[in-house]
Amino acid sequence: MEHKALTAPEFRGRKGGAPLVMVTCYDASFARLVEAAGVDAVLVGDSLGNVIQGGGSTLRVTVADVAYHTRCVAAGLKATHLIADMPFLSYQVSAEDALRNAGRLIQEGGAHAVKLEGGARTAPAIRKIVDAGIPVMGHVGLTPQSFHQFGGYKVQGRSEAAARQVIEDAEAVVEAGAYSLVLEGIPADVAATVTASVPVPTIGIGASRNCDGQVLVLYDLLGMDERFEPKFLKKYASFADDVRRAVGDFAAEVRTRAFPDDSHSFGRARQNSERREKR
Ligand code: KIV
Repeated sequence: MEHKALTAPEFRGRKGGAPLVMVTCYDASFARLVEAAGVDAVLVGDSLGNVIQGGGSTLRVTVADVAYHTRCVAAGLKATHLIADMPFLSYQVSAEDALRNAGRLIQEGGAHAVKLEGGARTAPAIRKIVDAGIPVMGHVGLTPQSFHQFGGYKVQGRSEAAARQVIEDAEAVVEAGAYSLVLEGIPADVAATVTASVPVPTIGIGASRNCDGQVLVLYDLLGMDERFEPKFLKKYASFADDVRRAVGDFAAEVRTRAFPDDSHSFGRARQNSERREKR
């Protein structure tokens, strides 16, 4: 049977079912691989400010950046639900502005849905975007675009009042029309309460197993940065080691003239096996 991308209503319908798997992605090559691995959804996160741009935060990421990377990812996907993150200041100024920017990520990027951070205060923007026919994924708890306000990347919802705030934010976002909700950096019991109280799937990152699915930043789960070791992160590969070893081996072989050898060089008589294959 032909595999099809989950639609937003289908994604929403997975509430309480088999856990949803989402990863971030920023380019076509990794998009092809994560799709082959069978993820349910791909997010072009504004985490690209950290892992692609090396900016130390997400605050400098623009709508044009996200649209560009979404287009790259869309080119590598055939049938996977694709969500584009709305960057800082692309949805906070006015609901009209939010809709215009969400529309760019759909039209220019080819996303199926957008994600934006924040609770009750983002409800008007969510409503406006949803009313225009664009599915919105919410994001509450530790919302990285507000890290200055939080005083750092700190777990949210630890006190009774803060936990109540996270729960109210989640409910407001869903009430405004979100079809799903990322829960980031909150205690396990708060995640359980939110997951039980909203009718849409919760996707956790640093929010325990008490969610309807999980998301990780692709480069983090691949172990690209050995300096980044937060408690919530499990690394499923050691790409930092692999890349250093592979590039180091290449450099050593170039310097000793071991590469390219005859088997990687062309002769005059062209053979079929020597054709440079198109990717
Ligand atoms: O920007 C991002 O990658 C995200 C995920 C971590 C949820 O928002």
